[in-house]
Amino acid sequence: MSNTSETAPLRLGVNIDHVATVRNARGGAYPDPLRAAKIAEEAGADGITAHLREDRRHISDADIEGLVQTLTVPLNFEMAATDEMQKIALRHRPHAVCLVPEKREERTTEGGLEVAREENRLAHFIAPLRDAGCRVSIFIAADRRQIDAAHRIGAQVIELHTGAYCDAHAEGDFAARDRELAALREMATHAHSLGLEVHAGHGLTYETVGPIAAMPEVRELNIGHFLIGEAIFRGLQPAIAEMRRLMDEARA
Ligand code: PXP
Repeated sequence: MSNTSETAPLRLGVNIDHVATVRNARGGAYPDPLRAAKIAEEAGADGITAHLREDRRHISDADIEGLVQTLTVPLNFEMAATDEMQKIALRHRPHAVCLVPEKREERTTEGGLEVAREENRLAHFIAPLRDAGCRVSIFIAADRRQIDAAHRIGAQVIELHTGAYCDAHAEGDFAARDRELAALREMATHAHSLGLEVHAGHGLTYETVGPIAAMPEVRELNIGHFLIGEAIFRGLQPAIAEMRRLMDEARA
């Protein structure tokens, strides 16, 4: 691969789902995820990520509508690979559609999408999204079989699931953390060699972002829960600015 990727800029996508989680805890209109998106843009976010879950537990259809109308940076629309979500995506034509697995009982997206077993269905599922001009991304484990399948079905982007790496770090199991990191590194290189754009995310914090941001093949990080939590203590703009600084430091 060319070494231009070594200096490629690293984008930060700020996931605003959990602003909506807090709003929905009371019902009503605040805190407003659209206001959070505006502040994130001003703080240097390169994109906004929002996950419209089937049960609408955080982001609502009206939030997506509002984001599409007001954002000045690209929207990364996360969704399950269902007919309902496909219709919504085709109506809004966001910059990117990221396909994620979804189980109602899970607290957050627990694993990567199973692509290999559903190759045929997913190939047909993403074709109209690509035709509508959306960049199709697949949220995926650091698993060669799944990445190869994502490539075969015509995805342009994979987003590597960093949850296991972050969990191992939080539990102080540094041997497991380093194994996860090695797998992420190897699969970022592999995906890049296939021509896939590589993103990463889930569970990233100030402590865990550095080694992921340092991977030259990774072009975008999507970070939400930690930033929204940190915003309680230092405000959203400074919380994002610090993440941006740590990403740039690791990249350099
Ligand atoms: N990327 C994807 C595909 C996700 O599903 C999520 C969680 O919604 C994230 C990134 C962000 O994860 P976190 O909120 O833990 O930073």
